Order: sequence, then C-alpha cells, then structure tokens
Amino acid sequence: MRLAVFDTHRYDRDALEKANARFGHSLTFFEARLTPQTARLADGFPAVCSFVNDKVDAATLAALQVGGVRLVAARSAGYNHVDLEAARRLGIRVTRVPEYSPHAVAEHAVALVLSLNRHIHRAFARVRDWNFSLDGLVGFDLAGKTVGIVGTGRIGRVAARIFHGFGCRVLCYDVQPDPAFERELGVRYVPLEELFSASDVISLHVPLTPGTRHLVDAAALARMKQGMLLINTGRGALIDSRALLEALKSGRIGGAGLDVYEEEEGIFFQDLSGQVLQDDVLARLLTFPNVLVTSHQAFLTHEALANIAESTLASVQAFERGEPLVNEVRAEQVIRPPTAER
Ligand code: NAI
Repeated sequence: MRLAVFDTHRYDRDALEKANARFGHSLTFFEARLTPQTARLADGFPAVCSFVNDKVDAATLAALQVGGVRLVAARSAGYNHVDLEAARRLGIRVTRVPEYSPHAVAEHAVALVLSLNRHIHRAFARVRDWNFSLDGLVGFDLAGKTVGIVGTGRIGRVAARIFHGFGCRVLCYDVQPDPAFERELGVRYVPLEELFSASDVISLHVPLTPGTRHLVDAAALARMKQGMLLINTGRGALIDSRALLEALKSGRIGGAGLDVYEEEEGIFFQDLSGQVLQDDVLARLLTFPNVLVTSHQAFLTHEALANIAESTLASVQAFERGEPLVNEVRAEQVIRPPTAER
C-alpha cells in the first residue's frame, strides 16, 4: 500500500525501510510535520503515518480525507495528538503502536533520575572545563527512598520493577490498579494525594487525556516533599509548566527530569540552535541547574525503532487486506478518571 510518512528523521527512515523489506509497501517520506497545511502532500495516498508532534486535528483529518486517506497509522504509543472523534466522523481509521519497548521509556526515566540526583550533567560539563571540584554535586542513595509511579501500564510497571531492584519502596497510582502486580512485586497502590506527599521521586506514566491534563498542578506540587525529583516521560501537559517553574524557583522541588514538554510541538525534534528560542517557559526551565530536559527521546533505542516500524507496517498491511486492526484506537477508548480522584 502507498504510505505517506510525515515528520521523518533519518532514524525513522532507516528503521521503516529495513522493516519494509518484509511488507513491500510503497513508502514516501516527508520531513514536514503533518498539519492542516501539509496534509495535501498526502493527496492520493490511502494511508499516512504520523508521529507525536504531528497535528492530526479535525482540520488535518478533513484535508486528508478529501485527498483519499482512510488510515492514520500513528507510529507512537500515545495518540493524544489525534482527534479520534473527528476521525470517526470522517470514516478514517487510526492505529497506534501500543507496545514497542516499555523498557526504552522506563530506562530513560530512570536515567533522568540518576543523572539529576547525582548531577551527572553538571559533572560532565565541569570536568571538560578542567573543573574537578565536587561542590554542589551531592546526591542521595536511592536505596530505601520512596518512588511514586503514576500509571502502572506497560511502561510504569517496568519502571516500578527497576526502582524496586534499586531497593526503593514503590508506591503506585492507577485508575485500574492491578492487585496481582501489587502482590507479585510487593508495591502498594495508594491514592494519588498520598503518592504525591510521600514520594522522594515521582515518575509519570499515564497517557494524556482530558482527565490527566495538568495532573501535576500548583496544588499537587504544594503537596510534594521538599526536594523531591519529578520525572515526566509521559506527555508534557501532564504537568502545568508554569506551576513547575514556581515550584523550582521556590526550591520546593529538588529537580525535574523532563523528556516531554507541554508546548514541545514545533520545538522538539528540531535543530533550533541558530535561532532565538521563543518559548519563555522552556527557556526559563533550561536555566535551572536541577532541570534536565531531553527532547522526547525516551523511545529512541534500536529495539524500539525496529518494533515501531514492524508494528506500523503490519497495521497498514492488515488494513490493506481488510483484516482486523488489532492496534486500532477509537474515541470511546479514552479513559476518564473517577471524578473524586481527578
Ligand atoms: P499503557 O496504556 O500501557 O498504560 C497507561 C496506564 O495509565 C494504564 O495502566 C491506565 O490504567 C493508566 N491510566 C489511564 N488514565 C489514567 C488516569 N486518568 N489516571 C490514572 N491512571 C490512568 O501505556 P504505556 O505504554 O505505559 O505508556 C504510557 C504513556 O507514556 C503513553 O500514553 C505515552 O503518552 C507515553 N510515552 C512516551 C514516550 C516517550 O518517548 N517519551 C514513548 C512511549 C509512550
């Protein structure tokens, strides 16, 4: 099938071309992000492949539909960038890659914790300037500390296991707690408020939905332990970035490791080194020595890229053959939390 791949980088192209040897689709790569303006590039294609910062809103989907697109194959686990309701109305089906490597993302979350806690990013810069002093680089033992995992799906569980392996006490929160997982690993599900106030490290692994937007807001930050580390590899808008700025300025938060950012669209994945950064909140976040930002790279391992390519192309093949789309996402699947729990 003819597939228009948007927001393509070299690593995407390499992985998709390699996997395509088995499928034989006709792949056309566009560097442009998918937006209402670029959607017409897909005219005549029955399927498009999108990534996390593509804008697959109602306007884009309408333009895609006019051009003949009937499938959006998102090469991501998250699908908050796709207007599923509009897709349903327009008769466009949507697939995603629910599981490509939970290890890639969980391990990156742990890397952010370790780097922040032991100030590896600062030590790296220091010694390159022949500054071998240790002042300001004191961290803490992770063993014995309390780690809060928000969202115990595929990625959150792997993260919980790793922290458990470090000797941490692991607290979990999920709208769908899993008692078997709780028993097996010896973790404990607690209400979100308790997780916020008891954890030395909090790592976010829930999808972005209307119910999880700004899950970490000013009130949540005020509950958190003085000096705790906040890690986000989920989606940027899980955290109210302005409230985070204030919490960092006041010293309430000990550090933040952010692989995702609320307004990352149009910034992350791009080389803007020759330009002036227009986002004042991000620019301010980047001035803190205790904030570590990576550009949505938690997924970026060889294993994950190969699995993403394989799964995406398999969805396109199933669609072409009229077979069931096992990785289809529909509007009615978006989970809303119980009202009392936010
Ligand atoms: P998953 O679907 O396996 O797990 C999500 C968990 O969140 C489920 O257990 C679900 O019950 C829970 N949940 C859903 N809504 C909730 C709510 N309102 N309150 C509390 N819990 C809720 O998803 P997976 O694979 O673990 O991925 C999690 C998220 O990580 C994705 O949605 C995506 O946004 C993000 N992600 C980020 C990547 C990166 O490169 N930074 C790569 C892959 C995923």
